[in-house]
Amino acid sequence: MNEEQRLQSSQIQSPKKTEKTTEDFAKYFQTTYQPPSLKDAKKRGKENVNVHYDFEIPENIKNLGQDKKYLIRTYGCQMNEHDTEIMAGIYEGMGFEATTVVEEADVILLNTCAIRENAENKVFGELGHLKPLKMENPNLIIGVCGCMSQEESVVNRIMQKHQFVDLIFGTHNIHRLPQLMEQAVFGKEMVMEVWSKEGDIIENLPRTRKGEIKAWVNIMYGCDKFCTYCIVPYTRGKERSRLPEDIIQEVRHLAAKGYKEVTLLGQNVNAYGKDLEGIEYGLGDLMNEIHKIDIPRVRFTTSHPRDFDDRLIEVLGQGGNLLDHIHLPVQSGSNDVLKLMNRRYTRETYLELVKKIKTAMPDATFTTDIIVGFPNETDEQFEETMSLVREVEFDSAYTFIYSQRDGTPAAKMKDNVPMEVKKERLQRLNALVNDTAAKKNAAYEGEIVEVLVEGESKKNPDVLSGYTSRNKVVNFRAPKSLIGELVQVKVTKAKTWSLDGEYIENTAEVNA
Ligand code: 5AD
Ligand code: SF4
Repeated sequence: MNEEQRLQSSQIQSPKKTEKTTEDFAKYFQTTYQPPSLKDAKKRGKENVNVHYDFEIPENIKNLGQDKKYLIRTYGCQMNEHDTEIMAGIYEGMGFEATTVVEEADVILLNTCAIRENAENKVFGELGHLKPLKMENPNLIIGVCGCMSQEESVVNRIMQKHQFVDLIFGTHNIHRLPQLMEQAVFGKEMVMEVWSKEGDIIENLPRTRKGEIKAWVNIMYGCDKFCTYCIVPYTRGKERSRLPEDIIQEVRHLAAKGYKEVTLLGQNVNAYGKDLEGIEYGLGDLMNEIHKIDIPRVRFTTSHPRDFDDRLIEVLGQGGNLLDHIHLPVQSGSNDVLKLMNRRYTRETYLELVKKIKTAMPDATFTTDIIVGFPNETDEQFEETMSLVREVEFDSAYTFIYSQRDGTPAAKMKDNVPMEVKKERLQRLNALVNDTAAKKNAAYEGEIVEVLVEGESKKNPDVLSGYTSRNKVVNFRAPKSLIGELVQVKVTKAKTWSLDGEYIENTAEVNA
């Protein structure tokens, strides 16, 4: 489908908001409204993904934001945070200025997350808060983008109950933001453009990065794993890898600008390269190249245990700038549940993988994601998750109660586990995770660790804060001039989620 056809198929201009009643709206939807479709989003075609290097903000829109301010609220994962940086870059390319004050903003965008119901509830709550602002200032543009806008149920709800929203666009439409903003500013109608299927890769989108020390670098988009509980393969489309040379160039560029750390991003980074035509190239090969770049720290997330291969382990074993922290979502310790989740590995192969990684990287720390209360999870199956957590001794874990996502296979599974039971399991799991984290951190007391100083601690501006290579937060007192430097800190006290330390003077690695 070319861009024009896509537009015809999915761009809708809803009726004039000011002139129609809700009933007119509903009638209008039935006849002409084409919502985004999760069903279409599920399809995986063979069509080639093209890479474009020709993104431009049209001349006539370059001043659209003159004397105007934008504000983007970001929900969810790092991918969304990075998308926000791109949209910020586009806004600034149109002359808008950033603001953090809601009342000052001329445009407010909500970059949304669809992974769990409570993430969605937060966005609808925020829309409720923004309504009076829009009533006071009709020129304010309110937009919704990100994963929620890929769901037809969400788009319908916004169009019926939140008609003051001016702009809805999807995760595959970010590069169209200039044109969509132009329509939103000059038109009187709600602008909606959501492509259900993924588009091409656009390489040269502008970005306004949030900091000057750490940077996100996308290496791939989408996910083809289709874990049965997960909405991401529908909201983010099929797996599409960026070309190695484009990624390497971006990392080199960041290194030259003085960034100290990059995190390579993808929903399933271990599948990197599988879709590249004509070359056998995987995440291991990419990391091997990035290993040679003069940037002190390289992380990657998120890994899928199924695709974590020996080549990558071998490359990571070289150490250097490839950091010894692995985020390896396990989701469950029960083979039966893993099967129902379509995770395509077993408890045993997961444990074997952890062992293999530990052999190659003896200092590696492991963190994970776990879902409790998957439909019909039994007490025994939950106990298997507990025992796996005890066995691996994760340094930390993100734990979630299963949330039903319409359109996913798990949503069709009947569930006989009461919410009370799920909550109790979560509490027990969290207690175990906390205990393990505290125990792991205690081992650092008296040790000297290298910290990348990120800034003042959120709780106390007199204290500096940063991360070790193994992803431990360290708080310590030292001159503010050290922000952005790698320094040595002696750990004096371990807490459950952070370490307190003393700065060892004159250990800052001086910027080149
Ligand atoms: N319910 C609860 N947790 C979920 N996750 C993904 N989908 C769901 C869901 N429907 C969790 C998984 C994933 C993390 C990003 O979010 O643990 O690894
Ligand atoms: Fe969702 Fe599974 Fe893909 Fe992760 S690997 S984004 S959990 S489908």
